[in-house]
Amino acid sequence: MGNNNIPVIAIDGPSASGKGTVARRVSESLGFHYLDSGTLYRLVALVASRTGVDLADEEALANITEHLDVTFEGTEIRLGSEDVTDIVRSETCGNGASRVAAHSQVRKALLGRQRAFRRNPGLVADGRDMCSVVFPDATLKIFLVANTETRAQRRYKQLMGKGVDVKIATILQDIRERDARDSGRSVAPLKQDADSSSIDTTLLNITEVVNQILRQYAEICTKNV
Ligand code: DC
Repeated sequence: MGNNNIPVIAIDGPSASGKGTVARRVSESLGFHYLDSGTLYRLVALVASRTGVDLADEEALANITEHLDVTFEGTEIRLGSEDVTDIVRSETCGNGASRVAAHSQVRKALLGRQRAFRRNPGLVADGRDMCSVVFPDATLKIFLVANTETRAQRRYKQLMGKGVDVKIATILQDIRERDARDSGRSVAPLKQDADSSSIDTTLLNITEVVNQILRQYAEICTKNV
């Protein structure tokens, strides 16, 4: 049985654009499932670093991807029986993920796993290629943007709140490098899909962004009745 008639809201955007928080809140409002696709790439990077696999070794990374033993329980992420919720959010895993994600075999190996999240009553999925590759038939496609400085500030506050001591200049540089890598790669680069609608979150708070998305989704549902 195909699951293509199950609604999907696909949200793409660069690092620290607020996608994760916004997507989770939209999914909670609608009672939909939630896929944070970046976590899958982060997990591959984590396993690679623990097992000494080079982030340039595409075949070994694809092998890790195929055997990834991950479970999502609410906001908790488990690798085997280990709770890795905090460690996968680290900047090291994020930077590793961005390298891992440039390999087409890794992306291919994650495709089925991501599409399996499309279950009733619906899904909100965030990442870089949700609109273009993973769910090209999504009910609603959103591209979130925000200026680089604002994104760096947001990430800085988030990390300081967790007690991680970082310099804003380092974060800014990290974000620029990651943007360049994620947008410049040849497979599934980060870019706005032709039929997605863009929301600039620079001057908006989370609730305003969530409400805009919910409004757009409600309009589509009304039209389709
Ligand atoms: O969204 P995030 O920061 O957790 O993503 C980490 C990295 O994973 C990001 O730099 C690029 C990659 N990624 C991707 O290539 N495609 C996705 N759908 C999600 C993330």
